[in-house]
Amino acid sequence: MDKEALKELLNDMSLEEKVMQLVQIPGSEYDSDAEITGIERGQAKDRVKRLAGSTLGIWGSRRLRKIQEEYMKEHPHHIPLMFMLDVIHGHKTVLPCPLGQGATFDPDAVRKGAALQAMEAAADGVHATFSPMADLCRDARWGRIMESTGEDKLLNSFMAAAMVEGYQGGDLKDPAHIDACVKHFAAYGAAEGGRDYNNTELSEHTLREYYLRAYGEAIKKDPAMVMTSFNSINGIPATGSTFLMKKILREEFGFKGVLISDWGAVGELINHGYAKDQKDAALKGMTAGVDIDMCSGCYSGYLEELVKEGAVSHEMLDEAVLRVLNMKNDLGLFEDPFRGLDKESAPVITKEGRLLAREAVAGSLVLLENKEKVLPLKNEKNAFIGPFADTKRLQSSWAFSGEDDNTVSVWEAALEVYGAENIRTAAGCTMFDQDAVTARGIRHLDNWQEENERLLREALETAEWADTVVLCIGEDSTQSGEATSKVSLQLPAVQLKLINEIKKTGKRIVTLIFTGRPLELKEVRELSDALMICWLPGTEGGHGVLDVISGKTSPSGRLPVSFPYTVGQEPLHYDAYPTGRPKPEKGPFEYTSRYLDCENGALYPFGYGLSYTSFEYYDAKLSAEELSANEAITASVRVRNSGNTKGSVTVQLYIRDVTGSRVRPVRELAGFKKISMDPGAEETVSFEIKEEMLRFWTAEEKWESEAGKFLVWICDSSVGGKPLEFSLR
Ligand code: BGC
Repeated sequence: MDKEALKELLNDMSLEEKVMQLVQIPGSEYDSDAEITGIERGQAKDRVKRLAGSTLGIWGSRRLRKIQEEYMKEHPHHIPLMFMLDVIHGHKTVLPCPLGQGATFDPDAVRKGAALQAMEAAADGVHATFSPMADLCRDARWGRIMESTGEDKLLNSFMAAAMVEGYQGGDLKDPAHIDACVKHFAAYGAAEGGRDYNNTELSEHTLREYYLRAYGEAIKKDPAMVMTSFNSINGIPATGSTFLMKKILREEFGFKGVLISDWGAVGELINHGYAKDQKDAALKGMTAGVDIDMCSGCYSGYLEELVKEGAVSHEMLDEAVLRVLNMKNDLGLFEDPFRGLDKESAPVITKEGRLLAREAVAGSLVLLENKEKVLPLKNEKNAFIGPFADTKRLQSSWAFSGEDDNTVSVWEAALEVYGAENIRTAAGCTMFDQDAVTARGIRHLDNWQEENERLLREALETAEWADTVVLCIGEDSTQSGEATSKVSLQLPAVQLKLINEIKKTGKRIVTLIFTGRPLELKEVRELSDALMICWLPGTEGGHGVLDVISGKTSPSGRLPVSFPYTVGQEPLHYDAYPTGRPKPEKGPFEYTSRYLDCENGALYPFGYGLSYTSFEYYDAKLSAEELSANEAITASVRVRNSGNTKGSVTVQLYIRDVTGSRVRPVRELAGFKKISMDPGAEETVSFEIKEEMLRFWTAEEKWESEAGKFLVWICDSSVGGKPLEFSLR
């Protein structure tokens, strides 16, 4: 439909119809007669169902076709209903959780993964996904760290932008693509104490320099939607913040698409103590610029009244409605309301999709320890022990439509590689401690004690038989994701007991950690001969893991977040500000910024990860000692694969602005390149440094660079390398 026709349509719509384009209701309402969530008593349910502009959480062409047919018949202007879904890291083929995708340091792979998700979701009738989550996360207690790509603004920016490109492709009318929604605007990841939905307190410069960056970069890729966040920022709930939504999002970032609230967030303005009732919440949401009210019932209940009273202008309403109509039009829904709803198009997991997922898994695994080169596994007697050894539950939360049945477990993949006669498996213990609390409530097993005694006996027998134990432990998928904040980053005690008992057998231990968040691994590090983070790897988890531990592929993932010694260090991130009393490398330490009982830095820092081969960095240099505006200097280093196998290395560039009108971080990632190298191969890896990369939110509240000295590291982690120096004129 052309723009003029769209405006005519808008002009022809009744006030009620317009308001209802701004209303989203749960998809389950189209299947059941249950009360609609958040809808005030007295609102006619039929009217809401008949006219709501969009729905979420349902998929499947047959089901959606039926809903669309009935809806279109009833709708006065036959405006199609839009179907949205949280396709976060896979629809049918489930990729590693976003934190694992961050660990690939490979935006191209992430873009391809997003395109695969879009293709599968589109073929199941989905029009839009609520992804990417561009929230910066510095706190492992926050369960949603699993949904982020980590703690670094640059890495997150690349990944969020790649996801938008992958989902949306070049043309949204292409039926293989869907709308992206950048979320959660803003700073949801900074929740106080890591407690989900909590308040955030952030100075404007920390907000702008760190927390807002990845949303901003993703928005440059023109996502169809942005979602507000649940938290308040400096006392104002994000969903009601005109500063965030109007000044930053619309004016500064130039966002032209649809702003949708998070689930119920307009209504939650009341709980925050920011709105007095649903009507007031609707007014505050509209005033802040929230176009679609997801499931709170405030717009459906009160927006019409607010417009009639003049509290919300017709102009404001029309602008919001037009944005929604445009979004539908960009997808070609007016021409084809049944886009993606043919039975034939139902998505199936393809060989190509599996291959892509398998490579994503292999690229996401982070090898932290490999003492005596115990990995890759020798072709001898290997026992796969632990609650993650023989389970198909390798998807993280938010993989609604992915099915465990399609997942390849570690054990299944091990059988393919080694054959049944050479390997054994045992669960070793339960996944959970007794009475563990998860996102789904308390897991209680009546015979937990006896069951664990039995499992341990069995595991010890299996370990006695083996030369090497591959211990598959970690956090279940219900322990990270939404509403899964924790004050402990320890593995379940029952799993720690298992590794301690196996250690007593004297067998070599290769520990694989499955997790959606950083965990405390000090004890496990000491007990293990090799240690690798496998995240929650998804459908091809088993294959990807076996590709790496068998040596078919060398591990190449890097930590996208710091792994602490202890939870007491959280929030922990490498790009901290210097203090007036930094802890010196050697004593005396007394009156310096440190803990009495722990190191300051991470047990495993951001950017860290090993390979089966070794890489030497030498001849690091800068092409000039001075830089001025409109020029660039080149930072380069020679890299050599000095080991015996092929491997990938992620060369990282960090910069420090030594003196500024505002304190600058001790290091900031300024670039990275992942390259694959044959044994003996050498290469020059170079990065351009330009003045614009050195800009920051100055004391004068401007994005500017300041003349002075800068340090540069070209290295293999956020704590590696020796600095070079240049000055900005
Ligand atoms: C989450 C969002 C999600 C939405 C819709 C909310 O609870 O915070 O990330 O997109 O639900 O499912």
